[in-house]
Amino acid sequence: MSTSERHTHEEGFESVIPVRTASRSYDVYVGCDVLGRVGGLVRAATGGEAAAIVCDSNVGPLYASRVEQSLVGAGYHVSTITFSAGEQHKRLGTLEIILEELASCELSRTDVLVALGGGVTGDMAGLAAALYLRGISVVQIPTSLLAMVDSSVGGKTAVDLAAGKNLAGAFHQPSLVLADVRCLHTLSHDLLTDSCGEVIKHGVLADPVLFDELREKPINASGYPDQDLARVVARNVQIKRDVVNADERESGVRQTLNLGHTLGHAIEAASDYRLGHGSSVAAGLCCVARATEVLGWTEPGTAARIEDACQAHGLPIDTSLSHDTIRRYAIHDKKRHGQTVNLVVPTRIGAAQIRTITLHQLDEVIRLGCGTAEV
Ligand code: GLY
Repeated sequence: MSTSERHTHEEGFESVIPVRTASRSYDVYVGCDVLGRVGGLVRAATGGEAAAIVCDSNVGPLYASRVEQSLVGAGYHVSTITFSAGEQHKRLGTLEIILEELASCELSRTDVLVALGGGVTGDMAGLAAALYLRGISVVQIPTSLLAMVDSSVGGKTAVDLAAGKNLAGAFHQPSLVLADVRCLHTLSHDLLTDSCGEVIKHGVLADPVLFDELREKPINASGYPDQDLARVVARNVQIKRDVVNADERESGVRQTLNLGHTLGHAIEAASDYRLGHGSSVAAGLCCVARATEVLGWTEPGTAARIEDACQAHGLPIDTSLSHDTIRRYAIHDKKRHGQTVNLVVPTRIGAAQIRTITLHQLDEVIRLGCGTAEV
């Protein structure tokens, strides 16, 4: 870990990871008892007089009053805006309701929105903060593993359109991110498992040590210690931070975070989103690694190691979808550029490379990688 991270052992492991993008600098706190200190940390990071907590109907009853009390203790006037849980509510209609509520709470430009919840909440509340009064501060308090290791850091915000997920959004970096791994105790085992797809992706992308640890000791195993989980989350945040610091707007290296996503998104969309995002990424990651290994772009043995890590976590390593179906969805991906696709290739465990490939080569990748694993 770099020396810029601080650790305290008074209340268990805690890491403070500084993010320094071109548009904003902020800290990500990861630990086992961060939630109790929200008020003071928000006060120090943003100021303001009023705070609006935005959460969904699942997370609100679990954590909103604790966060509210902490914010009140730090001198904030607090309102809580709750919307119905579920990806189907991550739409412009819900966003409009949130914006109207922010206005009726009379939140001013110096006040703060607190996004409390998983990826849907963070993305949509982040977009509300980007739009309201042309932009107010947002503090992200992710309560799912996927949100902790991925969506709460880096400033991507969005809602879905009928044409696809996350098609209307903005870059709006948070002022602070507070990840308390004890919130993961209330996450279902299936959702925890699903998030592990993105954690394994980070290991493949940038950290062979993390990857081997994941392979040997799955983080969704019962009794996995909170302190170790906090360390793994913090390492994931560092990996994402390094990429986002270098390329905030995804014009270059940030695209590597899409490792496993070209085929993963196609698998997810073709399942009509019944297969979770992280599980789809895991399957997409294994498919692409098998194919690129055959093509000679990936160190031999890499695909089998990725399959091992995914299987250890109970994640899929392949898909039974037809090649035609995968192709159809993959070429509709929003990240396609005309007749080419930027494919992220795992060159070995711990390194990846962006290759611009033709649609014909994409067919070849699908043919070599999908439906070829022994399951
Ligand atoms: N989830 C990918 C990114 O933030 O760029």
